Amino acid sequence: MNKEWKNWSTEQTKEFQKKFVEWYEREKRNLPWRYNRDPYRIWISEIMLQQTRVDTVIDYFYRFMEWFPTIEALANAPEEKLLKAWEGLGYYSRARNIQAAAKQIMNEFGGKMPQTVAEISSLKGIGPYTTGAIASIAFDLPEPAIDGNVMRVVSRLFCIEEDIAKASSRKVFDEAVRSIIDEEHPGEFNQAFMDLGSAICTPTSPKCESCPIQSFCLANKRGIQTDFPVKTKKAKPKDVYYVAAAIQNQAGSFYLEKRTSQKLLADMWTFPLVEVTLEQYQELLQKWVSVTDNQPNLFDELLVADEQVALPFAHQETVIWQKRHLGEVVHVFSHLKWHVLLFYGRATNGTTQLLPESEATLWIEEAKFAQFVFPKVQMKLVDQLEKNRNNSNPS
Ligand code: ADE
Ligand code: SF4
Repeated sequence: MNKEWKNWSTEQTKEFQKKFVEWYEREKRNLPWRYNRDPYRIWISEIMLQQTRVDTVIDYFYRFMEWFPTIEALANAPEEKLLKAWEGLGYYSRARNIQAAAKQIMNEFGGKMPQTVAEISSLKGIGPYTTGAIASIAFDLPEPAIDGNVMRVVSRLFCIEEDIAKASSRKVFDEAVRSIIDEEHPGEFNQAFMDLGSAICTPTSPKCESCPIQSFCLANKRGIQTDFPVKTKKAKPKDVYYVAAAIQNQAGSFYLEKRTSQKLLADMWTFPLVEVTLEQYQELLQKWVSVTDNQPNLFDELLVADEQVALPFAHQETVIWQKRHLGEVVHVFSHLKWHVLLFYGRATNGTTQLLPESEATLWIEEAKFAQFVFPKVQMKLVDQLEKNRNNSNPS
């Protein structure tokens, strides 16, 4: 492997740092976690930014700081409130890790964010990237903070051919960044990579003519910018199929279940979901869509008891299913692609006894959905339900 950074002289490196950090100071985006160097704010923002775009994160960030202004407040917060603050951001284990780390800080570090690389990285949910970001931005420690954006820029800068999808490539990028990092301004230096990667050195059409480090960039010199980063294709997410049931009782409430034993979306509330095979899914999709194409008033007139098909719900005898499904919702997790077919059913009188409330099940009015921590896929199901109702009840 050609380690181009080893060819840089000390003067060249200094010039690079100066240009890059000055560009950052001039052009940096005005973002709420940049107002000061509070390590708590920096930590939370970095966790949010790992999964979500800057524009989206801003509102979440403000609300999070309002609800949990200190590490102590976060450590003591009820989990439901924490998940509510995270609702829509996805990857809920990160929210739980944040709270576990806050408790760790209270117990092991006297309530103050630790200030060394080893201690920061001992916190739950804080890996090398977040450690580097906190250490450099909050504490001026010369640690690289290498995420996908940074790898893209650095791979172009030095024509690094290591596959960025491989964990083992990380140490190459780590070595490269360590060799050029500005030890006097490590936080600015790292954030310059982040801003350059999001505004200028973008994945498909880098704007090299406005790039502050163009004259240092080997890929630019060779005209092969978009050959980098080298990345093997990720395995396609696996398709899985579900049937979801929006079951409404005579009081108008819907039946929700809490996913107590599943790993994915653990402890989140959803309509009852049952996994089916692709064949079952396709059969349901066809059989249940054909009846109604020229029937405008779907919601009230097509409720039938007999057309239950193989709806795989134990409680189907007590629910009158609508003869048409409400549509499909698709949701992609990092490794799974969920296809969910949504049905609507009316619970008959005795159903509330047959589907009793418990720790993990509830009958709840639609107006109260907003109080729940719904995962994205459930929000999509609720949207689908509402969309259909509006379509089928023009009055
Ligand atoms: N992406 C990840 N961390 C960031 C930060 N601190 N500022 C802007 N974008 C980021
Ligand atoms: Fe990226 Fe082009 Fe700048 Fe190189 S010159 S770092 S490819 S924007």
